[in-house]
Amino acid sequence: MNAEEWVDLEQLMFVEEPLDPDEPRVHPAWLPPEAFRTLGARRVLVHGDGLLVDTVLDEVSRACARYGGRVWHNPSWDVDVDLVLALRGAGELPGPAVEAARAGAGDGTLGTEGFLLTHAGPVTVVLADAPAGLLYGLFHVVRLCAAAFDPTRPPERHRPALRRRMLNHWDNVAVHPVMGQVERGYSGGSIFWQDGRSRRDLARIREYGRLLAASGVNAITVNNVNVARTEALLLTDRLGDVAEIADVLRPYGIRVHLSVTFAAPMVLGGLSTADPLDEKVRGWWAETTRNVYDRVPDFGGYVVKADSEGQPGPFTYGRDHADGANLLADALAPHGGVVHWRAFVYNHHQDWRDRSTDRARAAYDHFAALDGRFRINVILQVKYGPVDFQTREPVSPVIAAMPATRLAVELQVTQEYTGQQRHICHLGPWWSEVLRFAPWGPGGRSVADVVAGAAGAGGGLVAVANTGDDRFWTGHPLAQANLYSFGRLAWNPELDPTAVLDEWMTLTFPPSATADPALVRRTLHEIMDDSWRTYERYTAPLGVGFMVNPDGHYGPGVDGYEYSRWGTYHFADRDGVGVDRSRASGTGFAGQYPPYWAEVYETPETCPDELLLFFHHVPYRHVLRSGSTVIQHIYDTHFAGVEEVAAMRRRWQTLNGMIDPAVYERVAERLDEQVRSATEWRDQINTYFFRKSGVPDERGRRIH
Ligand code: GCU
Repeated sequence: MNAEEWVDLEQLMFVEEPLDPDEPRVHPAWLPPEAFRTLGARRVLVHGDGLLVDTVLDEVSRACARYGGRVWHNPSWDVDVDLVLALRGAGELPGPAVEAARAGAGDGTLGTEGFLLTHAGPVTVVLADAPAGLLYGLFHVVRLCAAAFDPTRPPERHRPALRRRMLNHWDNVAVHPVMGQVERGYSGGSIFWQDGRSRRDLARIREYGRLLAASGVNAITVNNVNVARTEALLLTDRLGDVAEIADVLRPYGIRVHLSVTFAAPMVLGGLSTADPLDEKVRGWWAETTRNVYDRVPDFGGYVVKADSEGQPGPFTYGRDHADGANLLADALAPHGGVVHWRAFVYNHHQDWRDRSTDRARAAYDHFAALDGRFRINVILQVKYGPVDFQTREPVSPVIAAMPATRLAVELQVTQEYTGQQRHICHLGPWWSEVLRFAPWGPGGRSVADVVAGAAGAGGGLVAVANTGDDRFWTGHPLAQANLYSFGRLAWNPELDPTAVLDEWMTLTFPPSATADPALVRRTLHEIMDDSWRTYERYTAPLGVGFMVNPDGHYGPGVDGYEYSRWGTYHFADRDGVGVDRSRASGTGFAGQYPPYWAEVYETPETCPDELLLFFHHVPYRHVLRSGSTVIQHIYDTHFAGVEEVAAMRRRWQTLNGMIDPAVYERVAERLDEQVRSATEWRDQINTYFFRKSGVPDERGRRIH
């Protein structure tokens, strides 16, 4: 045997940090060693070279060291193997790979991230054209477990539907006096930053990179969209910290982007203006960006929140968002970078007495007319709904309004408005609904089609991350499923969210590691599958949104925003509730949609029940399409929601002793809180509407 060709397992073993006995180990999420058992017991050949191929080799070697398999890297002799992971174009392919390619299944390009899974006789073969594809192929094999080694399994080609699958971390470098270390973070501190400096916990960042790559994420921002002084410095003086993170994530195919402040030329460059048409400003961005690429050659680009909630932007100089975005796009273009320009722009100094201003209209009003004016490397990043990451909103009309602009849809994995990782709220089904929504009417192109765009020129899917330095990464262990589902849906928006959840369960709670796998799986499905709808039932009704406490957005505050400057109202009075956004008598928001939906949303009779109060102000006794009245629907769903949460808790108790006790305990604690909080929601909402309307519950249940 040639010593060089035999993979040195010792050398490739992951160096584990010494464990502090007081510090619990970090939970492995969906990559526990057990998930690699099937792979690790096999004889594996890795063919090809490069940074990401080394990652593949490292993963396979660790699995084989643990479970008794063997690994060869680029052997020059024939070996009997069970699995070949081969890069096409990396010299002469090993026998089974040639056979697989010859069988016809290997025709056609697989792109920079795609792969083919096939079989040559008894040998499983993964082929890719680029190293990232091989890594994704490896994680697919892990996901499939034994099924990957079934020689009768038909060949599969996989290519991501969306090129950009990005997570935005709203992490602050310096602790913000109100928002803390992580804005809207519910998982402890930041993985990257602590008290004004880099944490340099590179082993943890590397683990994070593995998890993200295994879910399909390929880009990340490492700082908050609200960029304060310390965070602004990441672009210049603190660039070394960013480069260090990029170095750790690169082997997992993840590119780093930065959130930048539009005022950077003033804040960092000492200029007297940040006017996008000023030559000195343009020069400053060009030079600064060049320096970034000198340090981080595969840097992804910038994310910008401008003229939004107090952040600086082009309006100060009488310029528009296209001028602003194009300034940064021009600086990034020579290096292949993109600017994600956020469309979350609205008046946050509204007067509640003014009924003509509607926050829901704002993004469209600001951006639709700019279609066609953005550079090719600008991606307009649009929140999925017109308001702000609510449990239920219509899909943003901006998505159908900008055919000449690359778009990314922004989701919120961090559960700001969906229970803050104290409540179980599995969001996969909601995101799937959004991605499948057809803005021009049933049968037409979907939101996913729009963001996929034309070949090579698409936008993507972005989400605000829910991870932190918490032992379980996400505070609530079951909230890991939301992060996993985001990555998988970004890779393929057509996946069934329940099937994705099933994948996550199999990896996270491997059947071989529990006494009763069927019970674990069934119970998790019973608890999680419908948990987003359950959350919807006991919170704000029928799409009206908000009704949260204004301080932290947790728990009921029915009138919390009713007389505020933030523009989120429900207008409940003694006769009815809801916001009239029709063209005929309301704010006209319904008219921002293409004709099919504009008509559907225009009248209470045609509007879907779940969005009724988003679009219409209706009497409490208005009869829904479901046959129930609005007021009775409010009572019924709130009672039902709490019962469902109580059932979740009972079901969870059946898993005591079946799974990792630390996971069991953490979820059990949080379910107690979910029951308490859901009860509070139920009682406040029901009581509020009973007092407003005077209409009793027709089933005579207790309302306070
Ligand atoms: C929400 C959130 C803010 C965040 C903002 C944004 O409003 O509450 O904390 O800054 O979204 O998306 O920029």
